[in-house]
Amino acid sequence: MNEKYKEQIQAAAEHFAKLLEGQLERVERINAEGEAVDYLKLDKIVIGVCGGDGIGPVITAASREVLEYLLADEVKAGKIEFRNIDGLTIENRAAQLKAIPDGVMEELKKCDVILKGPTTTPHKGDGWPNIESANVAMRKALDLFANVRPVKVPEKGIDWTFFRENTEGSYAVGSNGVNVTPDLGVDFCVTTSEGSRRIARLAYEFAKKNGKTRVSLVTKANIIKTTDGKFLEECRGVAKDYPEIATDEWFVDIMTAKLVDEKRRGDFQVFVLPNLYGDIITDEAAEFQGGVGTAGSANIGKKYAMFEAIHGSAPRMIAEGRGKYADPCSMLRASVMLLSHIGRQAEADRLEKALDFCMFTDKKYRITGRDTGATCEQFTEYVKETLKNI
Ligand code: IPM
Ligand code: MG
Repeated sequence: MNEKYKEQIQAAAEHFAKLLEGQLERVERINAEGEAVDYLKLDKIVIGVCGGDGIGPVITAASREVLEYLLADEVKAGKIEFRNIDGLTIENRAAQLKAIPDGVMEELKKCDVILKGPTTTPHKGDGWPNIESANVAMRKALDLFANVRPVKVPEKGIDWTFFRENTEGSYAVGSNGVNVTPDLGVDFCVTTSEGSRRIARLAYEFAKKNGKTRVSLVTKANIIKTTDGKFLEECRGVAKDYPEIATDEWFVDIMTAKLVDEKRRGDFQVFVLPNLYGDIITDEAAEFQGGVGTAGSANIGKKYAMFEAIHGSAPRMIAEGRGKYADPCSMLRASVMLLSHIGRQAEADRLEKALDFCMFTDKKYRITGRDTGATCEQFTEYVKETLKNI
């Protein structure tokens, strides 16, 4: 060992040892995981609602209103309960120096599914303390291993569903990198075998159930050989169980390019990606649909599931007084996934049809994010009116 840096290397090695311990315990936990919960067998489903920060409370309230409208009979019959969960705000998280304050976490764990508005993620220099992202913390704490993000643009022949691994990769210990010396920073990327297999299985099962014929595996396994290499290898293993579905492999750089290739992009159907590539590619994909404001996201685990927008809390819109013009479509799309996930497929289909009509066909009200377009409230009313005829 270089004597000059002995102490720093020792300290970094100890830090690394602790991370490994935590990750090995996680591997044991996920290897021992049971079957996914069957919502149709529950006497009652509790839907927790967290508004979040910035435009979060505006668009979350809009989605809750639409969901309550669609599920009114079941709410009345006590089969479904909406439960407000306060305290997942940047102010409270900063005051408690916790990504998710303990009281909030306790409440979250009493719910079956969660509808969550965007939460502000502190980053260097923004004045907030360096706490972990609430999204990332929730995904990890509730083991929401699959981030499912559909993007659909019928007139461009785009109908994609992304299966982003949600608890591993560069995110697993993303807030626990180490500055070995003031001049050397190191982050860690983590891939586990079961972590890779379970996201692949979900993607192939989705493909099978939805008549999809092709699954694309996206990595950078030629460079990130150990972790992306394992991810790819495990996905290939799962692919063997689905011989009727074609599997192809892509590196993430060329996939990023192919999504803008008008001749090729319509061929893609289902994607499986490690966490960080999934994060980046799904923002790109959502842009074809009208921007991140239009795309919803399901975070699915075996016991819990959380539904959210794919975008952030847009503090600039609030600072500029444009909060009421926030686009609820991302949360409404997430609500379609929530309904489908809890087995209310008829209601999911109705809401999806209503959104397609409002967003792509009729377009009577358009959201522009400013006073040139409709308000969130007007658009929500428009969706509810549309639902009456579906
Ligand atoms: C997303 C977001 C989050 C992520 C942020 C807000 C932590 O970009 O859900 O895609 O990086 O996963
Ligand atoms: Mg993102």
